[in-house]
Amino acid sequence: MPKDILLPSGGKATLVQVVTPNGWAAFRKTLSKETQGWCAANGFAGEPGRHVLLPDGRGGIAQVVAGMSAGADPFSLGKLARALPAGVYELAGDVEDAYLAALGWCLEAYGYSAYGKSFADPAQLVCPESVDRADVLRAAEAAFLTRDLVNTPASDMGPDQLERAARAVAAAHKAKVKVVSGKALETGFPMVHHVGKASASAPRLIDFSWGPQRAPKVTLVGKGVTFDTGGLDIKPASGMLLMKKDMGGAATVLGLAQMIMAAKLNVRLRVLIPVVENAIAGNAFRPGDVLTSRKGLTIEIGNTDAEGRLILGDALALADEEQPDLLVDMATLTGAARVALGPDLPPFYTDDDEAAQALGLASARENDPLWRMPFWEPYMRLFESGIASMNNSGDSGFAGSITAALFLKRFVEKAKTYIHFDIFAWTPAAKPGRPRGAEAQGQRALFTMIRHRYGN
Ligand code: BES
Ligand code: MN
Ligand code: ZN
Repeated sequence: MPKDILLPSGGKATLVQVVTPNGWAAFRKTLSKETQGWCAANGFAGEPGRHVLLPDGRGGIAQVVAGMSAGADPFSLGKLARALPAGVYELAGDVEDAYLAALGWCLEAYGYSAYGKSFADPAQLVCPESVDRADVLRAAEAAFLTRDLVNTPASDMGPDQLERAARAVAAAHKAKVKVVSGKALETGFPMVHHVGKASASAPRLIDFSWGPQRAPKVTLVGKGVTFDTGGLDIKPASGMLLMKKDMGGAATVLGLAQMIMAAKLNVRLRVLIPVVENAIAGNAFRPGDVLTSRKGLTIEIGNTDAEGRLILGDALALADEEQPDLLVDMATLTGAARVALGPDLPPFYTDDDEAAQALGLASARENDPLWRMPFWEPYMRLFESGIASMNNSGDSGFAGSITAALFLKRFVEKAKTYIHFDIFAWTPAAKPGRPRGAEAQGQRALFTMIRHRYGN
């Protein structure tokens, strides 16, 4: 729990003196000859990313000295959460950004232990004076929720469990929940039905709302594919290995919704999550099938592995019907986004330059990397179908993330601002504040952008 990691001020704590390479010489002079010798014996000279524990002469730790450099990853101090012995610490000295240091500390302390892996107790941090503890805790709690949902194996995070998780988030803030499944799905959300029908666990559309009707309408849509085999166009083993995370969009949107409701932002929030398992069975949808979407567009199936855009198409069409002020979707939509930008930098798409600029600022402020890519309309030609309104998989292999984004955009006409995120939801190799495994990409940046836009 983040609140057990980031403590309110007051109480005893061990000092962590943060020094830059330039500040080291001056700080060193304030230490006794013995302690200077101890630092030298430990090979510590204020190097960024390293730290040394100073003895108090009575068998305890007097203080910690941690090296830091301007321009380093602002989460790098967070590494101390797992590098220091259990105990309570407080930061002093050259802390460039105390908010990101505290946030990085909390995010680093996450460990997924549901299946038996154990973690040592993380070091605890006293919340720095200048930092609003509630802001950090809200962000960390949302990230923990998202990571837990994504890290959970598909055997324990199928459509039923994802619905339960969504209901729990909604219930905690008294949001109104509606779930459509069965026959109603066939007529109202035919693409969700067809993509999800081969699974032993029924597909569904989760829809919850919170906040006053008159407030600006913000609608979040999250891809909830609890496992993506690829369908009949089955993925190879290497491509399927991580596909428990194909509900990463849903998990990220649920964490974001929790933040918005906890902070009581002045919005009418709506969350839509189409939930399916893209499974293989005799009744699975097939390449060559034509689906009629909620919006009435007919979609020829070029590839059953391009399933996310299908279920999102129906959810976006529903969202668009009430003309929301801001419509956002988050989805682990394409492998091509990783080819373009790698695992750490998710692309987002919008035609609203002001929103894009605000997101860019929020992304930097929150150390939550994002990169804008274009809705490049001319590539829409790649989706041409001989028999239907469009095909679901341009077969050229070009611009896979852009074309997927354009496909989704076909289902949005009335929303004032539309933003699509093609996220990875995963950290393949640990970095400060980003343990290996599930990650809540874009969540804090979006929250901050929405908070600035609509206030609370
Ligand atoms: N869930 C995948 C995309 C994905 C793969 C995200 C790996 C992150 C990591 C999606 O449903 C998919 O399979 N997309 C295909 C689309 C193609 C068939 C047009 C892809 O990207 O290869
Ligand atoms: Mn797929
Ligand atoms: Zn998928």
